[in-house]
Amino acid sequence: MTTPAAALSQDELKTLVGQAALQYVKPGEIVGVGTGSTVNKFIDALATIKGQIEGAVSSSVASTERLQALGIKVFDANEVESLSVYIDGADEIDGNGHMVKGGGAALTREKIVAALAQRFVCIADESKLVEALGTFPLPVEVIPMAAKQIARRFEVKGAQATLRLRDGQPLVTDNGQHILDVRGLSITDPLAFECEVNQWPGVVTVGVFAHQKAAVCLLGTAQGVRTIS
Ligand code: 5RP
Repeated sequence: MTTPAAALSQDELKTLVGQAALQYVKPGEIVGVGTGSTVNKFIDALATIKGQIEGAVSSSVASTERLQALGIKVFDANEVESLSVYIDGADEIDGNGHMVKGGGAALTREKIVAALAQRFVCIADESKLVEALGTFPLPVEVIPMAAKQIARRFEVKGAQATLRLRDGQPLVTDNGQHILDVRGLSITDPLAFECEVNQWPGVVTVGVFAHQKAAVCLLGTAQGVRTIS
């Protein structure tokens, strides 16, 4: 289904899908909340109905701070057995709902919260829709002492892994670990790829979300919000 819209900037498209995601939030429930600039728009929209929800489980320190600043209660993931919905962005999404995530370095907690949810709703602008995953550098959260051996394993696959830096130093995730960004991959079987890389020693989380794939994608397009399910 497509809702018509005048020419919108990327930021406005993010606002549009952030607001559209409210339709998946059930009154009285706890909502799973992802991380990133698109999710920030969702959090802003969620604040407008905060009196109707119990709170949120957050996937990053950044989202927790934003939720709390807007007066939304944040629950620890251990306090929750199940969530109806988890709403998050993506760096890439294919037609099957498989995604690459982790551009904001929050992939591990994102996967944990997504695994609690019955339904993953992805919100993204149309630039994120791809035929096949692998153009966006794949984020992999790693234990620092394993970084080089994991990089060598990717080299065997013909890909190049580089340590993500911030201010000239290795970026440290909310979990105290590092991120490798992997270029040159062709991910033809996301489920198998996720399984394979996840079992390499030292890999905390690979940024392919095939097991926790999106059930619904709200895509911001020049024509408005397109729903893919
Ligand atoms: C963070 C993520 C984000 O969902 C992804 O990077 C998309 O972010 P944005 O909405 O800013 O484009 O996976 O780890």
